Amino acid sequence: MANEKVVLSLIQPTGTPTLGNYLGALRNWAKMAEDYNCIFGCADLHSITIRTEAQDLKKRTRDLYALLIALGLNPEKNIIFVQSQVPQHSELAWILNCYTMFGEASRMTQFKEKSAKHSDNVNVGLFTYPTLMAADILLYQADYVPVGEDQRQHLELTRDIAERFNGIYGEVLKVPEPLIEQSGAKIMSLAEPTKKMSKSDPNNKAFILLDDTPDVIVKKIKSAVTDSDARVYFSDDKPGVANLMNIYSVCTGKSYDDIETEFENKGYGDFKLAVAESVIEELKPLQVEYKRILAEKAYLEECATKGAQKAQYVAQKTLHKVKKKVGFWN
Ligand code: TRP
Repeated sequence: MANEKVVLSLIQPTGTPTLGNYLGALRNWAKMAEDYNCIFGCADLHSITIRTEAQDLKKRTRDLYALLIALGLNPEKNIIFVQSQVPQHSELAWILNCYTMFGEASRMTQFKEKSAKHSDNVNVGLFTYPTLMAADILLYQADYVPVGEDQRQHLELTRDIAERFNGIYGEVLKVPEPLIEQSGAKIMSLAEPTKKMSKSDPNNKAFILLDDTPDVIVKKIKSAVTDSDARVYFSDDKPGVANLMNIYSVCTGKSYDDIETEFENKGYGDFKLAVAESVIEELKPLQVEYKRILAEKAYLEECATKGAQKAQYVAQKTLHKVKKKVGFWN
C-alpha cells in the first residue's frame, strides 16, 4: 500500500447502482484500495429512515455486499462490513447527537428534501441521519471520504462535530477531508441530460442499472434524448450528445476528437449503437463476477462476519476513548 491513510465510504443498500454511480465512483474503488487503507460499508441503518420491506432490505444489503467484492475489493485486505452488524455505529451516533445542534441538523438540505418527499413519514431518524453518518466516519478515524455533491454538507457537519468534540476533550477524533474523485465522470440522465442520472427517476429509461441486460441497455440508449442537429460533436448546447460522448469516452478511452472523427459522416443511430456496445462491454466482466459471487452464499456470509469483526475492532477503540472522555463509568 502506497499510503496508510484511511479512506472510508458507505453506500446505502437502496437497489442496484446505476451506470452513473459506477463510472462516477465505484469503478475507481478497486484502484483506490491499492493506494489507501480502504474501509467500505453497506449503510443499512441509514436505509430504514425510509420505509423498507424486511425481505427487500436483506436482499439489497447482500446484493450490495456482493457487488463491493465484484468491483475488485478484497475482503481480506480491506474492511468490508455491514453497518447494522457493528453496534458501535448506533452507540457513537447517540453520543454525537448530544454534540450536534438542532439548528445545524435543521439546515441539512437532504433532510428538507427527504421530508418533503416522504411527508407521511418524517421520522426522527431522518433528522439525525447525518449524526449516524458522522459516527460511521469518525469511528474509523478516516482521513478521507469520497463524496459526491449530495453528501458534501453532511461531511462538513461531520467535521464541525469532530472539531467541537475535540475542542472540549482534546484530540480524540480525526477531522476528515473530502476526497475528490480524480477520474470520476459525471453521467447525466438519458431522458433529461441536464439532470444527473439517478435510479429514483420515475422514467426508467433515464438510467442504466449495473445489472441491465444487453437488450435493455441497447433499448435505453436508443431512446436517449439527443437533438435535431444529427451531428456528433461535443458542445454545451448539445447536452444529450455530450452525455453519450462522455459515456463512450469513459468506456472506450477514446478522446472527444477521436469520437468526432469516428462518427463524422454517420448519424445518431450508429453512434448510439456504438455507445450501447461500449457500455455492454464495460459492464460485462463486472456482471459476470457479480453473478458468480452472489451465488456463493456461504462465502458471502463468512466475509460479512469477518468484516464486521474487523470493523468492530477498529470502531471499539474510538468508542472506548470517546466514552472515557465523556465520563461514562467504564
Ligand atoms: N449518506 C450516504 C449516501 O446516502 C451514505 C453514507 C452513510 C456514507 N454513511 C456514510 C457515505 C459515511 C460516506 C461516509 O450516499
